[in-house]
This record gives sequence, structure tokens and C-alpha cells, in this order.
Amino acid sequence: MRIRAHSLLLLVLFFVAPTWQVKSELFKTCDQSGFCHRNRHFALQVAAQSNYIPKYAVSLFEIDEPRAAITGVVEKSLNDATTVRLPFRVQLLSDNNVRLLIDEEARSNGTVTVKDGKKINTLRYNEAAKWAFRDEPQAGIFSEPVAVASDEKSLRFSYGDGEFTAELQFTPFKLTILHGDSPQIVLNDRNFLNVEHWRAQTPSEPIEGEEPLDNNVSAEETMYDAFTDSFRDCKSDTVPLGPESVALDVSLPGFKHVYGIPEHADDLSLKDTTAGEPYRMFNVDIFEYEIDSRMAMYGSVPFMMAVKPGMAAGVFWVNSADTWVDIKKEAEMKAGDQTAFNLQVSTKTHWISENGVIDVVLSIGKTPTDVSKSYGALTGFVELPQLFALGYHQCRWNYNDEADVLGVSANMDKYQIPYDIIWLDIEYTDSKKYFTWKKELFPDPVGMMRQLDRTGRKLVTIIDPHIKVGYEVSDHLIKNNLAVQSSSADGSAFHGHCWPGESVWVDTLNPATDEYWSTLFANGTQFSGDATNLHIWNDMNEPSVFSGPETTSPKDTVHYGGWEARSIHNLYGMTYHESTFKAMQNRSGGRNRPFILTRSYFAGSQRSAAMWTGDNMSQWEHLKASLPMILTSGVVGMPFSGADVGGFFGNPSKELLTRWYQAGIWYPFFRAHAHIDSRRREPWIAGEPYTSIIRDAVRFRYSLLPMFYTSFYDANTQGVPVMKPMFYETPENPMTYEIEDQFFLGNTGLLIKPITEEGATATEIYLPDEQVYYSYDKYTVFKGEGYHKYGALLEQIPVLLKGGSILARKDRYRRSSALMRYDPYTLVVALDTAGGASGTLYVDDGQSYDYKQSDYIVVNFTATEEGIQAQVENSGLKLPFIASLDSVKIQKIILVGSALAQKAVSVSQSGETWDASVVSAANHVVIKSPGISINKPWNVTF
Ligand code: NOJ
Repeated sequence: MRIRAHSLLLLVLFFVAPTWQVKSELFKTCDQSGFCHRNRHFALQVAAQSNYIPKYAVSLFEIDEPRAAITGVVEKSLNDATTVRLPFRVQLLSDNNVRLLIDEEARSNGTVTVKDGKKINTLRYNEAAKWAFRDEPQAGIFSEPVAVASDEKSLRFSYGDGEFTAELQFTPFKLTILHGDSPQIVLNDRNFLNVEHWRAQTPSEPIEGEEPLDNNVSAEETMYDAFTDSFRDCKSDTVPLGPESVALDVSLPGFKHVYGIPEHADDLSLKDTTAGEPYRMFNVDIFEYEIDSRMAMYGSVPFMMAVKPGMAAGVFWVNSADTWVDIKKEAEMKAGDQTAFNLQVSTKTHWISENGVIDVVLSIGKTPTDVSKSYGALTGFVELPQLFALGYHQCRWNYNDEADVLGVSANMDKYQIPYDIIWLDIEYTDSKKYFTWKKELFPDPVGMMRQLDRTGRKLVTIIDPHIKVGYEVSDHLIKNNLAVQSSSADGSAFHGHCWPGESVWVDTLNPATDEYWSTLFANGTQFSGDATNLHIWNDMNEPSVFSGPETTSPKDTVHYGGWEARSIHNLYGMTYHESTFKAMQNRSGGRNRPFILTRSYFAGSQRSAAMWTGDNMSQWEHLKASLPMILTSGVVGMPFSGADVGGFFGNPSKELLTRWYQAGIWYPFFRAHAHIDSRRREPWIAGEPYTSIIRDAVRFRYSLLPMFYTSFYDANTQGVPVMKPMFYETPENPMTYEIEDQFFLGNTGLLIKPITEEGATATEIYLPDEQVYYSYDKYTVFKGEGYHKYGALLEQIPVLLKGGSILARKDRYRRSSALMRYDPYTLVVALDTAGGASGTLYVDDGQSYDYKQSDYIVVNFTATEEGIQAQVENSGLKLPFIASLDSVKIQKIILVGSALAQKAVSVSQSGETWDASVVSAANHVVIKSPGISINKPWNVTF
């Protein structure tokens, strides 16, 4: 047989080219996960039986005074006519949050025994809320109960000024949230509630999903891993408490669209999973992840938002164990409506966790922003970052030595590309021993940091949670029981493998660890000296264990409190970055807001870290996928997120790299990063025209830093996502519900559609309403709901400004954000169809906590046909930062969409009045040098 030369080449390439593909066989599918399989199977059995008799009913209840909660017992009936008692509580919290808790009496009484006499906590894990909630939640007060049926089969309470109702049905157990008479969220609607109660270790009793309710299903099909784990490397994992999963179905009538439950490389609007895998939340180091997948990734936030016109709902499943969520979209008749014409699509979900109590919080409101606020009231809003953290981050694995770091920094200046932070990956350490330096390459790290500080630049170094065995840090952890323990009864430290080889893992669930961890970062240590511009990257904190099952630690390892990793797995990463956050706060004597980047996260992580989407690839599909992933992060209250610009694995083409920068400038966390084997790709390497286009993009980001910072202020006070999905802007328009390739920057009115297609020269932008929109660069008018063509040559970034918005930006090129601090502002006033506009600017010192003592201003701008006005919150306060803004002026005002024909306008501020000249240009007029200070109220009269 003759093989042609090019076929031969292809054949050779096939064998030598790197194959980028996730090793999916390392990770469980639902069927390979005992508890997921059992619950899915149980649900199928229940759904298939028309005469199924539900097993859970309220047997006892009382109403707490004041009416903040209903407590009692749910009984689970077993086939042998005995029952299992499950204490429950339905509680009203502030901000229209209703919480349901279900525990298991035998577990909370401590009457259970543990297989092989293991010393672990035998309670059902009940501390996920302690970590996830910002504070002890405030209780609300329900209305007087209203019994809906004379036979008292249920209780109804109203809340939210009487607008919403919680209805608790006794038999079968069911909890419904209604708006008026219309159900919005229904728990146990489909009777999939399942609490696998404690039972003896020999499976004499059948387990839900194991005993066929339907004779067509064989026992073999369902006898699944209740007391052992048969998956690959998990076989050595013990299951000391046997089957203990919790599961519940949550129906969302009339909500066709649901969002959230990261982390997945999947669409923004979640998919029906009936025919495939459920969405899995289990923090793992997923290598070369694939897109369009429900596989688990690095972080988890078990919060789902549902949206329909006029209503939004939130489901927060407060559980940190391995969790799977099935989603079913179903066309059904509207409640009370018997005509087939009135079908609605509802989303029906099924939440399955390996263990823990049932703890679920239901939020309800009119808009997505209302629900974000309710969720934020519970878990906390994103920490206000330092301003520099919103600048450009230059990273790669690795910058090799001091000369490399300072050389990259110098080149950024040479090519006049602003940047704020340069990063060091693991190679800076001595043999991957964190808190050390490889001295031959970094002889004077503090000197290097000082050098960077001269232009306001910062250094980020990586510190991971695996600690190499055999130096003082691991010695201390082991000696003082601050390391994660193995499953053996002697409480010895768990040993596994990661970058340094044999390692132990720091147990940051232990409060005593915080104290020690702080000493490692303290001011004046050998590690960091007295540098004030050092910040930290926490990676591999799922935790990643190369030698462990599913690349993480065995589920039977033990943490502080006797809790198995099985129970706390998804929140470990958060405890780790929180500990680092506290350490860095201490380092600055509580003065500055730390910047921490984390790879693993849980609900509540937003309070102390930014996240990024991990090891993506230098491919167009990955650029595209970054958008829904970051949008999802915003929906679940973690707006400070980004993806590796350029892609981590591989070598992007120059076009892809350029387009990635143009998209990346909109990521709330904007960092270029690359794998150690990838070629150098700092912005000047691509050459012209790419370098100039990248430079313009980065400068565009810097000019908008005041708006990014203001968007973070809105996120910090109200939970508004920074990269904001279209449906937050116009929730009344369902056409926006599946849009994931365009978005708004917070509440600024900037509408962005990054180019994610190779070779594109134009795109289509969807306008969600009848407002007027202007192109950002030329102020060309776009109007009318629907798609509009927009030019997108390589140097063009499709951005529109919505009529009715006012932007404040800083247009001068500086090397870093610190050097822009007292630069003047340019205002862009984009008039709406009625000739008005409004906007906000938040300003503080960008680094300290002084804003908590009111040393900040919020400028509220409004424009009408008569002129422009600014009100300034805190203007009158005599505080240092506010006073330092006296010299900061507005250098020009651009009025877009204005027909102003006059040559001058009158300006007044602080009791004085003067004139400023007006020049008209294409589609806009400019008020030149109005001489206005930013920190005091003013008026411009036309
Ligand atoms: C894995 C991280 O995802 C990646 O960004 C980093 O470069 C490597 N670890 C090495 O630290």
C-alpha cells in the first residue's frame, strides 16, 4: 500500500501533536457515584409510579414566638411500618429569604456507631452555613398563620409586606413559596425528598433507590456503593457512616430559565439534564477541561437563580459535600388553567448531596437584582477590591528571575502599555517550599518589590495549601495538629503528592491555623521583608492531590472538628483563601484590603478573594466559553472573576491573542497567563499591528477604571454583577434570557459584544429595548429592539453606550493605576430618547478601609434639557481623602445625542459661576475645560 506524503505527515502529527483532552475517566459520572445513582434511580422509581405513597410527612410542629420559625418533626416511613424522626425548621430571614432545615434525630443525639470505630464527628454536617453566611442571619417575622384548609393540612404565612406566602403542607411534606396565589418555588413537589437515615453497617435494610419499587428494575442495577466506594482510586476510601445522602426536588413553575450552580464550562442558561449527566459540584483540579460540559470543576456555589418576566427566584442549597443537580424543563398547564393553549415551561430540579443536613434558602423578588440582593444579604457582597486589582495583571508560569521580572516591567513601559501587577508562579520557591525563595534566581526579592513599587506596581506570589514534607512549615503543621488528618484512628497527618512531591495539607478549618498562617506572611519575615506591595495567589486549593482519588484528597480524611472531607470538601478552598486573607490583613496592620486570587471557591468566597476559571486552552472556543462562565460567576455573587487571557495551554495565534485581550479588558479580573511550556506572549511580542491594538485595548480598560471601580461599589452594596448579563438590564424581555455573548458593564450603560470568531470583520449586537444606543467611538446611533450589524475589524471592539447613561473616565495614559489617582475626568453624557441621562461615580483612596469611615464620595450626575447637575455624597465631610480630591477636575464633558447649538454654557460650583465654551463635532458637542472639581456639587446650565 502506498501512503502519500501528506497522509504520512498527518499520521506523524497525530502521534506527536499534544492531545488536549480532559481525562474524564478520572472523574465519576453520576452512575459511578453511589449516592447520585441511588437518588436518581429513586426519583425515576417515584416518578414512574402513579400510586406511589409519599414517605415524608410533618408529624409535629410549633410556631416559635415571635413568628420567625416553625419547628417540628418530619417523619420518614419505612417499609416495615416504623418511622425515622427528622427534626425540621422553616424560618423567615431578612430580605425575603425563607430557610428550611432538616436534620436526623439519631445523628444529632449521637446514638449512631461508626464503622471500624473511627474517631469522626457523627453529627450530620451542619456548619456549611457558618462558613457561607456572612453573619448570623437576621430573623424576619411571618404574618399570623393562615390555615388554608379546614382540616388543617397546611399552614400559610405571608411576608415581604404581604406580597409573598410560604405554605407548609403536612402530608406529604411540601413547602411552597407563592406570589399572590401563584406558586413560584415548590419543595418536594415530586416527592424526591430523601434523607438516607443511619442504619447498621450490614445492609439488612433496603436503601432508597436500591429496592426496586418497580419489578422491572433489578436489584443489581441499584445496589450501589452504599458502604464502600468501587470507583477506581476511591476503593481505598472508607465510608464509615454508610449511606447518608440528602436529596430534594425543587420545582420552579413558569420559570423556563435557570442560572448559576458553577463551576461548569457550560452555557449561562442551564440545560435540561434528563438525557445526560447532572451538573456536578465537587471541587477538583480538572486538567484540560472540556467545554459544553456538566463535569465538576475547581469551585462550587450551590446557588441557582430562576428568572421570568416580573419575577425572580433563588435556591441556595447550603451544602458543601459532593453535589449533583438534575434539571428538567417541562411544558405544563398553568395552575388553575385547564386549557391546553395556556402551557408554560417550568424548570424542575433535583438536588443530591452525599451527606449533611438539608439546609436550603429560598429567595423571591421581582427582578434578578432583588434576588442577588437577598443572596448577598446572607452570604455577603463582594469585597471592594483595591483599585490596582482592577488594572492589568501580567502573569505566566514562570517569570524566571529578578531580571526577567524587571525586564518585563520595563518593556511594558517601553511599549507604553499600562499594567499594575506582575506575578510569580511556583518556580520562584526553593524546591516548592512555600514561604522560601530560590535564592540564586531571586537574591533580593524585597529590593525587587521596592523597584516595582516606584511606579506603583505590585507583585503577586503563589502560595498553595500542599506543604512539602521536611521543612519547618510542614514540621510545625504536623507537630501542632494543624494538618489535615488521614483516616487512620491515630490522627496522623494525611500525606499525598503535589508539586513539591510528598506533602501535607494545611487544615484551615482549624481556627488555630489562622494564627500560625499569619506569622508566615507577617511583616519582616525572610519571605517578604517589609514590602507593602506584595499580594497572594492561592492555587490548587480544591485541594488538588495528584495521588488522590479524582485528583483530590480521599473523602475519609479528617478535618478540625472531626469532620470528614466528605462533608466539607467544597468549602475547604474557601477556608484556605480566607485564612490567607486574614493573614494579609494582619500584615498591613488591618490598614489595606488584601488582594487574593483563588482557584477553588464556595458560596461566600466573594468576601475575600477573586477567582479565575483555571486552566483553559488557547482556542477560540475557550475564549467564547469564558463569557458565560464569568457571567455565571456574577449571578452567584462572585463578580470578581476572570479567565486566563490568551488561554493557559497552547500557543494562541496573534489574532486570537488580540481578540482575547479585547474581550479580557471586560473581565472584572483581567490577567494574562500562560503554561510553562507555552511560548512567550507578552503584548509586545506579537509585533505590529497586534501590539498597538493590544495596547489600545489595555488603555481602554484603564480609561474606564473609574467605571469598573464604581461597578464594584454597586456590587459591594447591592450585588449587581460587574459583568452583567443582559437579563439583569431588561428582565422583562425574555429574548435576553439566553444571551451569553454580550453583556453590560454593571449599571454603566456600556453594552459590549466581544469578538470570539476567527476572521470576523463584523458582528450583530442585540438591543434589548427601544432606547437609543450610541457606538462608543463615533457616537453613531443604533435604535430598535433586535439585532444590529456592527463593524468589527481587528482593531474594533464592539461597544455601545445606552442613551440615558453618564460615564466618568480618565483619558491620560499612565504606567499604572496608582499614577492616575489625581488625574482629571472626562464625562460622557449620552442622552436618552427623552433628552435625559444619569450616572454614578464612586471614588475612595482605592486601597484602605477608610471608606468604611465615610472617606469616599459618590457623585450622582443627572442631565436634562436644561443642563447637567452633580450631587456629591459626603462632599461636606472634612476627611483626608475627600479633601485631597479638591484638585481633581473634570477636563471636558462630551454630550452625545445633543442638539445644543450655543457657544457657551454657564457653570456654577461652590457659590461661583463662570462660562465654559462649547464646540460641536460629529454626533456630539464638547464642553471644554469646565473647571469643575469632582468632590463638590455643581451645575451646568444650557
Ligand atoms: C495550576 C494553575 O491553574 C495554573 O494557573 C498555574 O500556572 C499552575 N497550577 C502552576 O502553579
